[in-house]
Amino acid sequence: MNEAVLAPKKTVFSGVQPSGNLTIGNYLGAIKNFSRFSEEYKTFYCVVDMHAITVRQVPAELRRRTYETLALYMACGLDEKKNTLFVQSHVPEHAELGWILNCYTMFGELSRMTQFKDKSAKHAQNINAGLFTYPTLMAADILLYQTDVVPVGVDQKQHLELARDIATRFNQAYSDTFKIPEGFIPKETMKIMSLADPTSKMSKSDPNQNSVVYILDSKDDVMRKFKKAVTDSEACVKYSEDKPGVSNLMSIYRAFTGKTFEEIEREFEGKGYGDFKLAVGEACADGLRPVREEFARLMADKAHLESVMKAGAEDAHHYAMRTMSKVKRKIGFVY
Ligand code: TRP
Repeated sequence: MNEAVLAPKKTVFSGVQPSGNLTIGNYLGAIKNFSRFSEEYKTFYCVVDMHAITVRQVPAELRRRTYETLALYMACGLDEKKNTLFVQSHVPEHAELGWILNCYTMFGELSRMTQFKDKSAKHAQNINAGLFTYPTLMAADILLYQTDVVPVGVDQKQHLELARDIATRFNQAYSDTFKIPEGFIPKETMKIMSLADPTSKMSKSDPNQNSVVYILDSKDDVMRKFKKAVTDSEACVKYSEDKPGVSNLMSIYRAFTGKTFEEIEREFEGKGYGDFKLAVGEACADGLRPVREEFARLMADKAHLESVMKAGAEDAHHYAMRTMSKVKRKIGFVY
């Protein structure tokens, strides 16, 4: 037998919060890339409901969105037979390791997290300890599965670096326990920016709903939002740092069509922004249609979604237990 057959598969882990509707930024920056790993890796994709409660949630909505996020994973092409799809709170080892890792994470490190700073500014009346230690729970998610690769959007890069630092610190204090994970941050899609203010990230919680395109938006909504997208007064489709609006639309168009920036510039040479925006809207709506249709089909069968999450949690638990027993032994818990 050759070595490739004997070598165990490498592991991929990623998580998505069941809070708010997911945007094309979430789709292009993360979820769309998840299915490319299914064949060659052991893949875990988690709905991180425990992370979601770091900001106040309406219980019924959190529950509904947990189903929706799972359905969305599947609608985006993740086959439950080829990927372990599960809900974070169904596997208690996440909370367990999260606590332990808190004791190997420095206050100063967590204070430097830009997401914490942003979120505490936004939720000034609820700066709870969970919001602060959010990154250690995320580190636990990743490290529990001896993960090799973590596909995430650029905004999660700092959290991933911290997870690596925590793992390294733990390994140095005891002995090799955790694999040090690598990020997989697709540069070709980069950050998708707001359509109304292309200097800030497209965010699902933006009060200006014209600035955000959701994965489940109807074609009419998609077209209307792109039509209103902020550009500039130059009337020239060209990728450039001083043209953030047009460059953002070009990134979105490229992500949905696979065309290069040069090809896009040539395609719209001598044409106005009206034509360009129409084309971006069409490409986006066409790309999202199959996802939207499959999502609707999946949401109509809750029992099936429940059986998927149950099987996923059982599989994840099996792997998580192995890491936990190693961790407990090393730190000196009576086991
Ligand atoms: N923090 C991530 C986000 O908001 C979600 C997340 C939680 C995650 N745990 C994770 C992503 C582990 C990757 C790996 O996007």
